[in-house]
Amino acid sequence: MASKADNKPTELDPSWEIPVHVGIIMDGNGRWARARGLNRLAGHRAGTENLRRIVRACADFGIKYLTVFAFSTENWARPKEEVDGLMEIMEEFIDKEIDELDAEGVQIRHVGKLDGIPERLKAKIKMSIERTRHNNRLVLSVAFNYGGRDEIVQAVRKIVAEGIPPDEITEETIANHLYTAGMPDPDLVIRTSGEIRISNFLLWQSAYAEWYFTPRFWPDFGREDLIAAIADYNRRERRFGRVLDAD
Ligand code: FPP
Repeated sequence: MASKADNKPTELDPSWEIPVHVGIIMDGNGRWARARGLNRLAGHRAGTENLRRIVRACADFGIKYLTVFAFSTENWARPKEEVDGLMEIMEEFIDKEIDELDAEGVQIRHVGKLDGIPERLKAKIKMSIERTRHNNRLVLSVAFNYGGRDEIVQAVRKIVAEGIPPDEITEETIANHLYTAGMPDPDLVIRTSGEIRISNFLLWQSAYAEWYFTPRFWPDFGREDLIAAIADYNRRERRFGRVLDAD
């Protein structure tokens, strides 16, 4: 395992456990752009190019699920120009990358509400889900128009609408009504840009996730940073609320 002066691994160690499901809060696009005298949308475009690189790295590393936070239910409050730009960037991402993602065995899922998303983008999201649904190398879930609390509210509404009796409602019932139904919970959640908060991302699902925070802005978060996060994950002792070595 090669090491640089800062002692960071630059390759995966074959003895490491690879997290099955990784979540990423891709933060810091705006600050990355400002530091270069660019506008915020240039930061989001650079962030999108980086997402492409990280999807490839995740597939190479054998990660099976990658869930990324691309647009929150709160992001509608950003200036119209930025919101419109993000919708456009998402469309461009699908147009440009769908063939290659499909060929690489990536299954695309949407996590969040379709309501409120412009019709043309909505159609492209549905098309990319349908087109890649049989792929199984890596499941890329894009949290777009997503909020963790809102997801729980939607789940409760569905449970009530289905008439499930209160004493039959278990944690599994809730999990099965979330947007992520059928997926394993994230093992590792990464947030870039130095912010240390959850910001309404996978609230229910990340109950026992290991969190990794890095000061790197998202467009600069590369393959080696992902390796560093996986190395750190391997130093954690996951107890899920239990005592592992009781004396
Ligand atoms: C946070 O940075 C980032 C976002 C709100 C959007 C993330 C979106 C992308 C990476 C591109 C679109 C995604 C796909 C799937 C094509 P920020 O704007 O909050 O940065 P700041 O905190 O530095 O201002």
